[in-house]
Amino acid sequence: MLTNQEKIEQFQEKAQHIEQGGGEAALAKLKAKGRLTTRERIDLLFDQGTFVELDKFVEHRCTNFGMDQMEIPGEGVVTGYGLVNGRTVFAYAQDFSVMGGSLGEMHAAKIVKCMDKAMTAGHPIVALCDSGGARIQEAVDSLAGYGRVFYKNTMASGVIPQIAAIMGPSAGGAVYSPALMDFIYMVKQDYAQMFITGPQVIQATTGEEIGAIELGGAMTHNSKSGVAHFAAEDDADCIEQIKILLSYLPSSFQADPVRLECIDPIDRREEKLNTIIPDKSNRPYDMKKVIKMIVDDSEFYENQQHYAKNIITCFARMNGTTVGIIANQPMVMAGSLDINASDKAARFINFCDCFNIPLITLVDVPGYLPGTSQEFGGIIRHGAKLLYVYPEATVPKITVVLRKAYGGSFLGMCSAQAGADMVIAWPTAEIAVMGAAGAANIIFRSESEEEKEAKIEEYIKNFSTPYQAAQRGFVDQIIEPKDTRPVIINALKLLENKTWELPRKKHGNIPL
Ligand code: HXC
Repeated sequence: MLTNQEKIEQFQEKAQHIEQGGGEAALAKLKAKGRLTTRERIDLLFDQGTFVELDKFVEHRCTNFGMDQMEIPGEGVVTGYGLVNGRTVFAYAQDFSVMGGSLGEMHAAKIVKCMDKAMTAGHPIVALCDSGGARIQEAVDSLAGYGRVFYKNTMASGVIPQIAAIMGPSAGGAVYSPALMDFIYMVKQDYAQMFITGPQVIQATTGEEIGAIELGGAMTHNSKSGVAHFAAEDDADCIEQIKILLSYLPSSFQADPVRLECIDPIDRREEKLNTIIPDKSNRPYDMKKVIKMIVDDSEFYENQQHYAKNIITCFARMNGTTVGIIANQPMVMAGSLDINASDKAARFINFCDCFNIPLITLVDVPGYLPGTSQEFGGIIRHGAKLLYVYPEATVPKITVVLRKAYGGSFLGMCSAQAGADMVIAWPTAEIAVMGAAGAANIIFRSESEEEKEAKIEEYIKNFSTPYQAAQRGFVDQIIEPKDTRPVIINALKLLENKTWELPRKKHGNIPL
């Protein structure tokens, strides 16, 4: 019989053994590739000494292919919770050193339980993903495991923020749990990839030859597919960036917003904003400069910065509280809306609405992008997402029209009719059913070129201004650009206790 002291020592030995993961050789192999170990990642994420591990002693119960003789420490995944900059966060981290971080029945059960606890307690979940996919030996038990994880991701959607970081291979089923989460980070290193079918399968089935990084590396998914939202240099940078994102987010849909002390004066007026719009309406300017001049401390954290650059989506703070900013970028495709921009912005708006983050929309949009690729690609369906998510969002919605606000694209950028609570226009705003030249080509097409020019001038004078919209009450305030920061902060304060009512229904049917 063991003494109590011996029982404690036995417990310590067992715990230490599990903490070794796949053992020295397997860990050394990973480290040689520049990857941090799972426990190093956990240590970086959480404030020192605050991580509480759950389910350390869970074991698999597979007997196929000699698995009954196989030990899989911790089931290849570390789960638990702790503090990140003083706030509670749940996390799970897959351990590639243990059977390639593959997902079997009990590995999945650990993840699902961790998510359940995160949802009940109302705290975000961070998934540090590093897995060879379904544990092949466990056959349909692995498949069912994935099914349970996906189900839980869906149930958690809109309840708590879900953040995934791709820090290793992510093949087959392993990609879909991150895809169901709110944000995906990818590490820009050879070892981090995401794909449904890898290069070999692609070559065998389609004959296409492509390398793993080109197919599913960080920049492919950040700039081409739009699957990922953030790219990080390495594991440490990735975890640092996740902490930045978390600093903007409430813990759950029921939690209070994060409020930081605001040192930047709330009545700061930026003279430079009065001159930022070029006199010639077709000249670009950098919308990011506008954002910097408006928000607290010139700081914002950009979502999907490498994808659909014609629209900017970012988190920032105004008077210390988080806002979500959606802004056309005149530097890229004149800020027009295309399929990718619509998808990117609509998803961001939905996220902000889930978590009570007010929306600031900065408008300079000439229209939806013309062209067969857009029409055949379904710009009607994708563009409709913006027309749908803005009215559906019940958070405070403040729209600032800087320059162009033409036609349907303005309705897609939160006009008064799309449900904006406050529409603010600069004197440089051009709120019109369409651009002057386009309008003249239609309604004055039979006139001579000279007369057409004169009519365009007339159209610009009368209809490419904020005043016609203001006459109808479609604009609440026309302000000097330099006043934008104090005016927005004032509107946010006004809308702090906004009430709303939506028609009774099960849920709507967003054009997906
Ligand atoms: C069981 C796995 C595994 C898996 C890796 N391992 N993936 N064991 N099931 N899915 C094991 C390896 O056998 C090896 O064990 C150890 O993990 C390390 O793997 P290596 O291959 O040595 O590592 P590396 O060279 O870095 O290659 C990584 C890899 C490769 C590219 C991910 O392991 C790989 O191709 N794995 C299989 C990927 C895959 O096809 N997954 C199944 C998808 S099916 P030893 O003992 O040798 O150290 C799927 C369907 C789910 O996911 C559908 C749900 C919707």
